[in-house]
Amino acid sequence: MEMQKVQNLMVTGGCGFIGSNFIHYILDKTDFGGRIINVDKLTYAGNPENLIEIEKMYPGRYIFERADICDFDVIRELFLRYEVDAICHFAAESHVDRSIKKPGAFIYTNIIGTYNLLETARAHSEQFVLFHHISTDEVYGSLGKRGLFKETTPYRPNSPYSASKASSDHLVRAYYKTFGLPVTISNCSNNYGPYQFPEKLIPLITLNAMEGKELPIYGDGKNVRDWLYVEDHCEAIWTIMNSGKRGQTYNIGGNMEMENIVIVQMICDILDEICFPDKGGPRRNLITFVKDRPGHDKRYAIDFTKLHKQLNWSPMESFETGLRKTIRWYINNKKWVERVNSGEYQSWIKEQYGG
Ligand code: NAD
Ligand code: DAU
Repeated sequence: MEMQKVQNLMVTGGCGFIGSNFIHYILDKTDFGGRIINVDKLTYAGNPENLIEIEKMYPGRYIFERADICDFDVIRELFLRYEVDAICHFAAESHVDRSIKKPGAFIYTNIIGTYNLLETARAHSEQFVLFHHISTDEVYGSLGKRGLFKETTPYRPNSPYSASKASSDHLVRAYYKTFGLPVTISNCSNNYGPYQFPEKLIPLITLNAMEGKELPIYGDGKNVRDWLYVEDHCEAIWTIMNSGKRGQTYNIGGNMEMENIVIVQMICDILDEICFPDKGGPRRNLITFVKDRPGHDKRYAIDFTKLHKQLNWSPMESFETGLRKTIRWYINNKKWVERVNSGEYQSWIKEQYGG
């Protein structure tokens, strides 16, 4: 278990959706005995309220530092101050639609930010155990009706987001080949679960459907994604960090291909079952087909045989149970939803951290 050596794990982007789930998972559910230093800039997608319980439960073992990974001097100072010996790198601009409207931040954070972290780790490589880079299946481009993305599939990113992630993957790999930095990379499919910002399909549709708002579906709704419950992703990352071979890439997926329209209909039906709407009839009536996303990838599907065969990982959650859990989470966490929707979490961030 490689991570047992690690005393000070820097998690970047730990206030985002997957990063905050990962910190919950590591501290609550694994035998990791070191400290976590969460470095997050707190963009619109970063919400420290996701980790309020963690701050209370693990004083000393959980540290939060507001910082931009693009700021080399600050990252270096944090690295030295906390004697960081491993990094799990989530921080990124993550939303495809935003990358189409305004790509700049994607280039800075996803490429320059990753480069800064790599350079810092390289400069202190004597004590350094692992740089784990979190990436996406979108780097492989789009599939036709058949076939799966394998680790050997050539990169063909189609959006500014996926192109910036592809670039960062190449940098991480190059630092292993050229400088011998101990790295692992994981490329994962679409995640869903608690704390996901309601700009992404599942939380957006869930919250709109709860409020009787329109449910926007891009194009004909027949685009396919391969869905994975976020805690399964966290477990896969932890497995790779502990037992993955240095310099290797591992695909992570849910074996759960779904058309967008089917997911939206499932969300409507589950919500109707929990609470039938008093006016307007079944929530499926809210479905509205809207203009397609430019360059919209048709289908993603992951072959995770390597991770399964070599490291014995498989997803635990079925889509039906994971989706129900997720919908319940949004229903039971009204305060979180209200504070995110109203922007109050941002005012709180300003009060706490300034800027
Ligand atoms: P997210 O948008 O919810 O969170 C990103 C976090 O990074 C936020 O907390 C944000 O404040 C922080 N951040 C952004 N720019 C920063 C900067 N310059 N410096 C420091 N912190 C910064 O994203 P997510 O959905 O949790 O995705 C996390 C990672 O996983 C990303 O690298 C993404 O590419 C990858 N990924 C996501 C999915 C998915 O379905 N969401 C699937 C596969 C891979
Ligand atoms: O595949 C992994 C990727 O999954 C991650 O790398 C990204 O960070 C993450 O955002 C996600 O990207 P997608 O573009 O697949 O996710 P999104 O939730 O934005 O969209 C999922 C599908 O739903 C996609 O085909 C577009 C469609 N969609 C999305 C939204 C927000 C709609 O039809 N309507 C919508 O309103």
